[in-house]
Amino acid sequence: MCIFAYLNYHVPRTRREILEVLIKGLRRLEYRGYDSAGVGIDGGNSKEWETNSKSIHLIKQTGKVKALDEEIHRQQDVDLDVEFDVHLGIAHTRWATHGVPSPVNSHPQRSDKNNEFIVIHNGIITNYKDLKKFLESKGYEFESETDTETIAKLVKYIYDNRESDDITFTTLVEQVTQQLEGAFALVLKSVHYPGEAVGSRRGGPLLIGVRSDHKLSTDHIPILYRSCDIRGKTQKERSGFKQNIAVIEHTNRVIFLEDDDIAAVRDGRLSIHRIKRTAGDHPARAIQTLQMELQQIMKGNFSSFMQKEIFEQPESVVNTMRGRVNFENNTVILGGLKDHIKEIQRCRRLIMIACGTSYHAGVATRQVLEELTELPVMVELASDFLDRNTPVFRDDVCFFISQSGETADSLLALRYCKGRGALTVGITNTVGSSISRETDCGVHINAGPEIGVASTKAYTSQFVALIMFALLMCDDRISMQPRRREIIQGLKVLPDLIKEVLSLDEEIQKLAAELYQQKSVLIMGRGYHYATCLEGALKIKEITYMHSEGILAGELKHGPLALVDKLMPVIMIIMRDHTYTKCQNALQQVVARQGRPIVICDKDDYETIKNSSRTIKVPHSVDCLQGILSVIPLQLLSFHLAVLRGFDVSLFSTRLHLTF
Ligand code: UD1
Ligand code: M6R
Repeated sequence: MCIFAYLNYHVPRTRREILEVLIKGLRRLEYRGYDSAGVGIDGGNSKEWETNSKSIHLIKQTGKVKALDEEIHRQQDVDLDVEFDVHLGIAHTRWATHGVPSPVNSHPQRSDKNNEFIVIHNGIITNYKDLKKFLESKGYEFESETDTETIAKLVKYIYDNRESDDITFTTLVEQVTQQLEGAFALVLKSVHYPGEAVGSRRGGPLLIGVRSDHKLSTDHIPILYRSCDIRGKTQKERSGFKQNIAVIEHTNRVIFLEDDDIAAVRDGRLSIHRIKRTAGDHPARAIQTLQMELQQIMKGNFSSFMQKEIFEQPESVVNTMRGRVNFENNTVILGGLKDHIKEIQRCRRLIMIACGTSYHAGVATRQVLEELTELPVMVELASDFLDRNTPVFRDDVCFFISQSGETADSLLALRYCKGRGALTVGITNTVGSSISRETDCGVHINAGPEIGVASTKAYTSQFVALIMFALLMCDDRISMQPRRREIIQGLKVLPDLIKEVLSLDEEIQKLAAELYQQKSVLIMGRGYHYATCLEGALKIKEITYMHSEGILAGELKHGPLALVDKLMPVIMIIMRDHTYTKCQNALQQVVARQGRPIVICDKDDYETIKNSSRTIKVPHSVDCLQGILSVIPLQLLSFHLAVLRGFDVSLFSTRLHLTF
């Protein structure tokens, strides 16, 4: 789910322009899985905005943002040329969690039939059933199956029962958020507070973009506490909530809200409130400048962001290493870890915690981390780590690997580990993200914005960042120097080797044409390439909707071999490392069951090439870096399979960062 809001203050905009901004914002945030969308704008067709702002018009539709756009243009009673000097529009795309995709379940959700209060919400309200029961007992009637509707109804309940007519919109929302449990980023609009916006977050990201024709009088917004006077700074136009990508085309000046901040725009003034002051609170929120250029996030000549990002990998890995790896004297400097490296070297164990692809980056580098740090390394899926209440100690160092830096389970695990006194280290791509800010220290992987829903370049950059960390950990160990030099020189030529793998694109497209009508693909490997199997299978599932499984070749005889026959598509990864002979055995087992595996192997491995009916030949790298090269054919394969299976990979999609 994604939310987007746009407020223009004394900057006249027609309804058409406002709707265009909202729709464009949603498009920027659209994820392939989204199934409905909606907008809430001022109603009325009068010339006076004061009259128009006394009613709210909702337009909601099942399907993609495009369907909503068409629905908007079908509306007979909405004059698109009416101009608004001040206006707040809010918009949402939904991925059904509570109730089927339908206009009534889409957001904005409303308080009542007159749309007195409307809300857009990203996240889950875990206590919505109790709230709903309470509100129903007070006579409020629910129309949708969503958890979000309770927010709209609750704000109206508090408004209806207000003690004074002076109650501000901010106070209402403060009172509502205190009752909410779960995770949320939300924005509200009301006929009682025309031209005002109130937003809040807990556990989900929310950012405010600020644009003004005039120089801003400050670059910090002070935090106001419950007892304080509410006064913000004067700025002219404020646009946009939610993620960088939707905001960047309007402004690169943004404020990242913290959990439980309540941001309000009233009379064109932005203020940020908190209920109570806690130790360590920052007294203000800085207006930051996003380092992201629009052209940087545009697709260029590629048909989709996923494809663009796969092909960016020769550069993105260079950006991860830039200024950090010195290939002349074989040294590594990580500015973000320099003050903590001694403490990390003294720790008892390393724990890598992440979800999805980022977890696979931990699996992929575990062996080399164990080798170079000589420490026990655990690699954990954030959700399972939390479910198990895993014991964590003060002398543990916990790594949080995350492209977005906002994944809810990883963030919760971070807070859990911090609470137990462990040192926390982020490996993140998004500067300013929650994980980047909340970890004690870390490394920005600098892969550039990853917009495609499938993580590709972030994986290879996370891989490289973790290798750099391992190299740093042993830089004063004499016995490790030959190995360090070998790996660093391997990193030096990596971009060229990636280019070489990418040149296999056409061959892989042909392979996809042979496979795309199949139901299932098994991917087998071991050692350094087990992670590649898991990651390849995840890419295929996520993008192509085919069943795919990554299988550790060492486990073949313990069950999975039963799946192999002459019809089952099998991909095997066999590289010339310490597992080579064992992989050859696995290949024989598969062939013995009449399997005809496609083997991803070293281009100089004539033995395997001779014994296999089909191979994808990749260049040779240092054993612990080879996984960067073996994963790329699978990224390309999943992309081509998706295209051939008719899925629209070309949607301008951002990642669904929150694992609610
Ligand atoms: C930093 C600058 C970079 C500049 C370089 C020059 C930033 C974001 N980076 O890069 O533009 O070229 O110095 O010396 O300003 N951190 C976390 N958690 C994370 C990631 C990072 O706490 O998940 C912290 C780091 O500990 C560090 C800061 O964020 O304090 C910046 O990290 P990083 O960008 O990796 O540092 P440098 O490589 O030194
Ligand atoms: O932003 P994060 O790296 O924390 O995201 C974790 C996963 O949600 C993510 O890697 C997901 O598995 C990818 N979309 C897979 O392609």
